[in-house]
Amino acid sequence: MANKENEPARGGEPELESLEVPGLLSRPRRNRKSEAVRSLVRETHLRRDHLIWPLFVVDGSSQKIPIDSMPDCFRYSPDVLVDEAKEAFKRGIPAVALFPALDDSLKDKVGTESTNPDGLLQRTVRALKDALPELAVITDVALDPYSSDGHDGIVHDGEILNDETLEVLAAMSVSQAEAGADFVAPSDMMDGRVGRIREALDDCGFSNVSILSYSAKYASAFYGPFRDALDSKPRSGDKKTYQMDPANCEEAVREVFLDEEEGADIVMVKPALAYLDVIARVKAETMLPVAAYNVSGEYAMLKAAARLGWLDEESAVMETLVAIRRAGADMILSYFARDVAERL
Ligand code: PBG
Repeated sequence: MANKENEPARGGEPELESLEVPGLLSRPRRNRKSEAVRSLVRETHLRRDHLIWPLFVVDGSSQKIPIDSMPDCFRYSPDVLVDEAKEAFKRGIPAVALFPALDDSLKDKVGTESTNPDGLLQRTVRALKDALPELAVITDVALDPYSSDGHDGIVHDGEILNDETLEVLAAMSVSQAEAGADFVAPSDMMDGRVGRIREALDDCGFSNVSILSYSAKYASAFYGPFRDALDSKPRSGDKKTYQMDPANCEEAVREVFLDEEEGADIVMVKPALAYLDVIARVKAETMLPVAAYNVSGEYAMLKAAARLGWLDEESAVMETLVAIRRAGADMILSYFARDVAERL
């Protein structure tokens, strides 16, 4: 309780000096006293070169089509996408990840379009590598953008076929490598895909093409806006027989170890925010670089709250990305990447 002496004197400031606690040696606040001091003791840094910018591509030219559930994100035609990537590269972003939004007429049960050498994705990769040879291009390996079933694998009698799907994924990876991809990124969660893809790439002379594996990819509600962007929702059922149960963490480590053995170069945890513990655990268990995917639903939540005036977008985004780094991610895929790069 404050005693009489500490009460404000009439018309003046309270006498606070007398309150100093003698012998309080540890005062953590001394390390927070100015931005200069805070910067000296800061444990985690977010730099532009930690960021990967995911981009959606549609066919055509001069197209910039908004995505309702992802404000300020667009589906770009390849020509516009190249310009956007130039801008991002100028701002210091080292890599982009590409996702094609295809017309339904190009989709079938086995994702035939995924290996078309003149397909939308392949043309976009070539255009990007021509214009920006130093920008790293990451391509997604999974059936869903190409599948009439909207699943990441081949569906037969309501089941997702694992080993049959591996052959499609291997051919898709080779096709993306031929187009010039620096990394192929299997996001499908079929068993054995990293090994099968590594073998196919090596057989075709692409031993320099890297594999960024979505090692621990969860069956998450936070992919909703992405599926809007690509119109790639499963036409029936859900993805729980291949994507991981959100309740599991040990299993993430098992997946990471398998991908390591099969030849992955980078392992990824996805989503990021509800899985910071998984990122931390994976970082502790592997010697490989760890990526985290700050997914579409995480983007949409912040954008929505900011638009309603309920959160300050800029500071909430920085806090989010630093937290993902602090958890252990060496690199982050984020739809905020380009905006953030400007601020860093
Ligand atoms: C599909 C894929 C998905 C995402 C990346 N690749 C969606 C899914 O598995 O249904 C989600 C990314 C995001 O939500 O930002 N293979």
